[in-house]
Amino acid sequence: MTDNIESILDEQRLFEPPASFAASARLKPADLQALHDEAANDYQGFWAARAREALIWDRPFTTVLDDSNAPNYAWFSDGELNVSANCLDVHLAERGDKTAIIFEGEAGDRRTLSYRELTAEVSRFANALKEQGAVAGDRIVIYMPMVPEAVIAMQACARIGAVHSVVFGGFSATALRDRINDAGAKIVITADGGRRGGGIVELKQATDTAVGDDCRTIEKVIVLKRTGHEVNMTSGRDIWWHDAVAGVSDECAPLPVNAEHPLFLLYTSGSTGKPKGIQHASAGYLLHAKLTNQWVFDLNDNDVFWCTADVGWITGHSYVAYGPLAAGATIVMYEGGPVYPDAGRFWKICEELGVTVFYTAPTALRALMKFGDDFPNQYDLSKIRLLGTVGEPINPEAWMWYHTVIGKERCPIVDTWWQTETGGIMMTPVPGVTATKPGSCTQALPGIIMDIVDDNGNPVEAEGGGYLVIRKPWPSMLRTIWGDNARYIETYWEKFQNRYYVAGDSAHRDKDGYFWIMGRIDDVVNVSGHRLGTMEVESALVAHPRVVEAAVVSRPHEIKGESIFAYVVFRGDRPVGDEADTLTRELRDWVGEQVGSIAKPDDIRFTDNLPKTRSGKIMRRLLRAIARGEEITQDTSTLENEAILDQLRGLA
Ligand code: WT7
Repeated sequence: MTDNIESILDEQRLFEPPASFAASARLKPADLQALHDEAANDYQGFWAARAREALIWDRPFTTVLDDSNAPNYAWFSDGELNVSANCLDVHLAERGDKTAIIFEGEAGDRRTLSYRELTAEVSRFANALKEQGAVAGDRIVIYMPMVPEAVIAMQACARIGAVHSVVFGGFSATALRDRINDAGAKIVITADGGRRGGGIVELKQATDTAVGDDCRTIEKVIVLKRTGHEVNMTSGRDIWWHDAVAGVSDECAPLPVNAEHPLFLLYTSGSTGKPKGIQHASAGYLLHAKLTNQWVFDLNDNDVFWCTADVGWITGHSYVAYGPLAAGATIVMYEGGPVYPDAGRFWKICEELGVTVFYTAPTALRALMKFGDDFPNQYDLSKIRLLGTVGEPINPEAWMWYHTVIGKERCPIVDTWWQTETGGIMMTPVPGVTATKPGSCTQALPGIIMDIVDDNGNPVEAEGGGYLVIRKPWPSMLRTIWGDNARYIETYWEKFQNRYYVAGDSAHRDKDGYFWIMGRIDDVVNVSGHRLGTMEVESALVAHPRVVEAAVVSRPHEIKGESIFAYVVFRGDRPVGDEADTLTRELRDWVGEQVGSIAKPDDIRFTDNLPKTRSGKIMRRLLRAIARGEEITQDTSTLENEAILDQLRGLA
């Protein structure tokens, strides 16, 4: 019997980087080794060298890491720079006419912006923000569709030192209001609406509700005309984007700010309580965002990089709005839904816009995989040379589909582990170097010290499982939770007396030193003294040819302590009655074969859908409450489909 979390997933396949890719990759094995060695010999010197090479400073730093207020760390803290200048102005001489953004609207409309044009638009809007009263340090909420103006607004804030807080356009008026109030925002930038799944997302209407009665801080609402449908404009408060920029200069000198000046807040829902305003700093954040776009996505001047994430998520910050621009890349932005008008939309965009590097989430892949191979097979995906995933562990089944059907077995897959809090990718294969294993995010990048510890904070021996921690501070780490530093310390540091950053995930390491994420630490199930990560059981279920998705939780069990309760989405019609009983037996045996009888679910419930947050994360706490027959106390208003609650309860 052990306190460690046991791994039951046994994935043995190993994929070497394709030789053709490795030959021209930015990082070769020797380069990566040199970076690791440099970081091991002189941790601070390593980061200082990267910060001097990668960023343009208005005032050079002399301090690298300031740990005098640990665990509130500061990086490069006597230096000054401007993030927008580092993403835009730095490219004007060499690649001013290069395309920065290729945009496609859901209706098929297209637009491109060169680095020169983007710089002008950002500068113009930055001036407009100043005219509307924005000054450095003000919080500005951005609640927009996935259009170039979302990036322009973010970059414009950075240019004048305002702190943006992007709120995902799929969030409700209530969620928007909570975030506005918590941040004490002065301006909201929104649009009349956005296009999604064939319909219109009523952004202005939601903004009106959010800033309506009890919001005292909002002075101005700037509204982009996107859909052109009628919306209310409150005089004195609301102004159209096109009116705000009319006659305004397209030159705006970037304001140098301190390296530690907050660049943005991004709210993320914790497992309990109100959303946390994750606060990122300017220089350290941008450094890691830029470096990882080069190291992990191998971006060079011929690449067309498409990260499908919305700017409402951290992925859309680091791999759309900031990092790839700092790296001088061409990015794709797409406004709409992945299955509009059909499940071939992503692949059509890849073909038509010549995407070379594609980065998406496992949940999107599983959804698209469900529609079969005919959709991707209709399109020419031969320009794609590198694939990536983020957001949750990718089950080997989806990994293999990505590898064969999308990547045609010639593209490395980078399974990137990171969090809103880490600012950028922490663990991932380096595409021309690391051999991959389906479902493993492999190892940490240079300068990032990941480890796995037991409940007492002691490193877990080889091949064991436990808490995933980060042993040393890193430049792009969150600085605090906005307005609640005590919660910052309690959430990320207290568990091990401020010695390590606690990611909240459970993980194990295999014999080759590869990391495997087993799920959130709260999702660990204890069956007869064996602590199992729910994700591994889910992965086994999904490997069954007829299972599309699965979510696993636990419920108390008289004998075993806890037993496994699985919710399963089946291909085709949802099985009921006798068919459901037969399939339940079949799936139990299947899990028994795949991972061992310890992991056999005691209960299996078939459902048409799983409850997910708007960001696509399965709401496991809700499922746990249902499995345990408890009252639902969670907010179910963000559920995509509230009607499935009865199916989950076994009532329909
Ligand atoms: C949590 C962070 C980072 C941007 C998107 C999510 C899970 C993320 C992986 C991966 C296994 C992953 C972790 C992490 N996660 N990437 N490659 N393999 N798990 O950001 O909403 O802050 O969520 O997502 O559980 O802690 P987030």
